[in-house]
Amino acid sequence: MADIQPATATPASLQAPAEPAVIRRADYRPPDWWVKTVALEFDLDLSATQVSATLQIERNGDHDRPLRLDCDGALPGAISVDGVAANWRHEGDEIAVDVSAPRATVHLTTTIAPDTNTQLMGLFASNGMLCTQCEAEGFRRIIPFVDRPDNMAVYEVLLRADKARFPVLLANGALVDSGDLPDGRHYARWHDPHPKPSYLFALVAGDLVATRDQFTTMSGAPVELAIYVREGDEGRTAHAMQALKASMAWDEKVYGLEYDLPVFNIVAVSDFNMGAMENKGLNIFNSRYILADPDTATDYDYDAIEGVVAHEYFHNWSGNRVTCRDWFQLSLKEGFTVYRDQCFSADMGSESVKRIEDVRMLRATQFPEDAGPLAHPIRPDSYMEISNFYTSTIYNKGAEVIRMMATMAGPERFRAGSDLYFARHDGEAATCEQFVRAMEDGAGLDLGQFRRWYEQAGTPQVQARLEHDADSATATLHLRQQFSPTPGQQDKPLMPIPLRTALIDRDMKAHRGEQLVMLSEAEQSVTFTGFARPPVLSINRGFSAPVTMDVARRSGDLLFLVRHDDDPFARYEALQQLVIDRLIADIGEEGAAAERAAALEDILSVFGDLVSDQRLDDSMRTEILSLPTEAFLGEQMLIVRPEAIHDARRALRKAIGTRLIDQWRIVHERASAVPYSLSREARGARKIKSLALGYIASAEAADAATIAFGQFAQADNMTDRQGATMVLASMACDERETALDSFYNRYQGNALVIDKWFSLQTGSTHPHVYEQTLELIRHKDFTLTNPNRVRALYWPFVSNQAAFHHASGRGYELLTDVILRLDPINPQTTARFIAPLGRWRRFDETRAAKMRGCLERILAQPGLSKDTTEQVVKSLE
Ligand code: PHE
Ligand code: ZN
Repeated sequence: MADIQPATATPASLQAPAEPAVIRRADYRPPDWWVKTVALEFDLDLSATQVSATLQIERNGDHDRPLRLDCDGALPGAISVDGVAANWRHEGDEIAVDVSAPRATVHLTTTIAPDTNTQLMGLFASNGMLCTQCEAEGFRRIIPFVDRPDNMAVYEVLLRADKARFPVLLANGALVDSGDLPDGRHYARWHDPHPKPSYLFALVAGDLVATRDQFTTMSGAPVELAIYVREGDEGRTAHAMQALKASMAWDEKVYGLEYDLPVFNIVAVSDFNMGAMENKGLNIFNSRYILADPDTATDYDYDAIEGVVAHEYFHNWSGNRVTCRDWFQLSLKEGFTVYRDQCFSADMGSESVKRIEDVRMLRATQFPEDAGPLAHPIRPDSYMEISNFYTSTIYNKGAEVIRMMATMAGPERFRAGSDLYFARHDGEAATCEQFVRAMEDGAGLDLGQFRRWYEQAGTPQVQARLEHDADSATATLHLRQQFSPTPGQQDKPLMPIPLRTALIDRDMKAHRGEQLVMLSEAEQSVTFTGFARPPVLSINRGFSAPVTMDVARRSGDLLFLVRHDDDPFARYEALQQLVIDRLIADIGEEGAAAERAAALEDILSVFGDLVSDQRLDDSMRTEILSLPTEAFLGEQMLIVRPEAIHDARRALRKAIGTRLIDQWRIVHERASAVPYSLSREARGARKIKSLALGYIASAEAADAATIAFGQFAQADNMTDRQGATMVLASMACDERETALDSFYNRYQGNALVIDKWFSLQTGSTHPHVYEQTLELIRHKDFTLTNPNRVRALYWPFVSNQAAFHHASGRGYELLTDVILRLDPINPQTTARFIAPLGRWRRFDETRAAKMRGCLERILAQPGLSKDTTEQVVKSLE
């Protein structure tokens, strides 16, 4: 009988839910029909927007298959083909329309509800304004469409709306017509002459104010620039505008690429899943990457704004003029554009500090991803939900792969390669393979084996050992490469790994020039002549390859490099390595106590020298003297021991703080005397000031809270105020509460600063951070509908290794609770929180079981989104 279950049946609750379909790169084929032009009309309204679309379509090749339109929520009212009611039907997530002629005009309409669109994909409402987000597959939530990047069309957009509520009406391209309509309504017609994929479509309607400026391109074309924000925010757009103009000039100078429309508009919105979006001629930004003034934004925020504005601007060529054939090619635009924005920021500020920041980010986000269950190549082979592939691997490792090509080619040949790429593929939807081929042809590189960087996941491990032979006066560098398996990739072929290398003479404290050593075999040796004495090996300088290095060194070599290497990154790296070695030894209680004490003395003495080393500027000094995070230390261990790491790091901070207390006080005073400005010196001073304050607090100096509160109270800028609050937030003292309250009261109503207020508390090392976080979840200003606020509260907590990985498992439960509540509201933002639980293999059995238990609890939730399901299923495998 049908209703009696056999005794052995799995209870329904334990059955795996239906897994979303897998999309494969190998299955790519062009669409059956092209959409060549699109005329859209919108009657905009918060709760019921009417959309009508007229599409000129063209059969692709010889076939009798129907036109297939992707559809997600926006159900068509009527569809006509060449003016006649069409034959059409739903087939899964698609709509199939019968078309007999080789060319036709298809007309369709829908009605959508932006105000209930909490996913923030498609057309959505944010603070009474309307805006779109279409990458990757949001356009189909506006109107059924051939919603894939290889379908490029010319768009004309007519917007109609109530004039009082939506005085500003924007879309891609240029305004061709506008005017009033009856009943207090008005319209605007926009035309974008550049054929584009649907993911670059955008519209904005709202009550916004613009900051305007002008740019003249290198060929003399004028461009009207505007940044649209909510009223009251217009005083905080100057930095973004400055960054935009600098980006436009930089792309002309460095890549020879010019802007191609008479207007460039930017709009800031406060509800946004990502950082920003490069829609053609109408970039839409998360407001955190636009708004800045000294009172509300830190120096770090200023840099992030500059970098993201540049990133989106650079997409106009690397992304828009040349776009992606399919989403497996995402790194074609993202990796290259990140590389471009990194180089831009390096040129605007300090190249070495920028490199350190980028490598730190890569190691903190991409290396763990590459070592875990979600590892994937920069050009993935399959996915279930493309939104899950906007990853650090696609972006940051993708940028490293481009950087390696640039390193191998040198600047001029790299430019020849990029020139050829843009010339060859302008106006096309291209592939990573085509980029590589353009680099081969234009830069004259042989990238045969190098293509493996696109195919293979996982961080290569390189071992290096220098052998000296006094008789022949030679130094031989022995190199080896190794790989760990990643999901679906057990055996990995060898990779070509470019290692910038120098051999430094111990007495001269100098080298005879750097070499690029290409490691392409499993084991390889390179002999250098003319070394009567053993030199010191400086390798992977500037982090020329995204690998982990295991270098056999004589004791004292790292100290030597910290003091004498002329590559700033290598100096930083050497001190980090010294500190990591020492902390790992402490955690594992490895080696004799006397040896460990001697190692500590070395670190303290080198820190003491560097605090006042004249060759360093304060910004670089701060980078070098910052300790690796607990999470990064965890990455260095097979099984992470959160408490031991926390204690060891804390003890080292205390030792550094205590031993050098007088120097930290002097630095803090010296830096406090520098008046606020955006000059490099003043910014460096602010950076070292809060570092020094942190060490004074770690030393548990009796007056630490007073000094910190002094910095807080006297601050005339957010960098100092946030720096002081961060230090206070981890201390148990009255000043902590006073500062946090005053911070909150001062900035109530400023969402971006209140975000900081949440983060400062959930990211603290205060012993009660868990209880404080629970309280913040209940705070009246906490909301699940604003992604910035959700991330502001939860990311610092999750990144707070000791708190998140508390042995009781309560940190995991706290995260699981929000995942379950957020998933129905905003799947894309939710799915990003799965990775921390997916790292269970790196923890002890008790923790691992609790983490798995949470993943299973998530998977059991009925109606779980495709986004979250994919990440959980992969994390449990
Ligand atoms: N393409 C955007 C960028 O990198 C990121 C983005 C992806 C934004 C998906 C929104 C949605 O600049
Ligand atoms: Zn991008």
